Amino acid sequence: MEDNLQPEQRLKLRILDLALPAQSVVVFGDVWMVEGLYARRCVESGCQRVLVLDTLETPGWLDHRQALPMLDFRKGDFADPFFMATVRERFEISVAFDVLLHQPPLLAALHLMLEKTERAICIVQPMLKERDVPNSLVYLPGNVDLDQLAPVPSDAQDDVHVFSVEDVNHSHWIWGMTRSFLGSVLAGEGFEITREETGDSLPNANWFWYGCVAERREVNPRHWSRTQPHPGVLDLSW
Ligand SMILES: C[S@@+](CC[C@H](N)C(=O)[O-])C[C@H]1O[C@@H](n2cnc3c(N)ncnc32)[C@H](O)[C@@H]1O
Repeated sequence: MEDNLQPEQRLKLRILDLALPAQSVVVFGDVWMVEGLYARRCVESGCQRVLVLDTLETPGWLDHRQALPMLDFRKGDFADPFFMATVRERFEISVAFDVLLHQPPLLAALHLMLEKTERAICIVQPMLKERDVPNSLVYLPGNVDLDQLAPVPSDAQDDVHVFSVEDVNHSHWIWGMTRSFLGSVLAGEGFEITREETGDSLPNANWFWYGCVAERREVNPRHWSRTQPHPGVLDLSW
């Protein structure tokens, strides 16, 4: 499995190996260009239950599933709460490699993913270097500052629609995230980053590869997902 891997793929496998072994794993998005590479690593490590969620399937991915019957697959959008409600189980670890920055409903999608995660989540993706203000999150569709933000130089992108204002879907780059932003969001979800590794810069050195394992800690009772309407009529006296 490890022949001819890119440096970022090796980083993803190292981060995954920090969280393995596990009884059960859900891999969010593992088909495009890799056809189950990270799910297959989980099977190799002895994991009994491995589920991949993706909107895409390919002949190569189907071949792997036939060869490894314990690889399970559900086709659907893991940012859709109605689809996620049909996944009626939780997994010891979850894997989110190169997917968060593609989710238009980012906070809600990450929350849906963490609801399925019992012990730890592994995250690897390109990150923006810290900005002037901590916790920065940059919206990329429609963003014209390609010098700062285009992950590869524009002349190398040819026919790729870089940050088109209309391409607001999970096939495109939606967010430039900083490590401080990710850490704060995970903390609000009751997760703590316990292991992390920085990889190479992308061709645009404002971006770098980043990986972490975040482990479940306390439930946060003040999280937005637990907000309830005030009972009755609240007299605020204004
Ligand atoms: C950029 S590729 C990354 C693939 C692999 N995880 C890796 O690290 O190389 C993103 C993958 O996740 C899938 N994906 C992204 N967002 C998704 C969503 N909201 N629901 C289902 N699949 C999604 C895409 O179809 C694709 O297979």
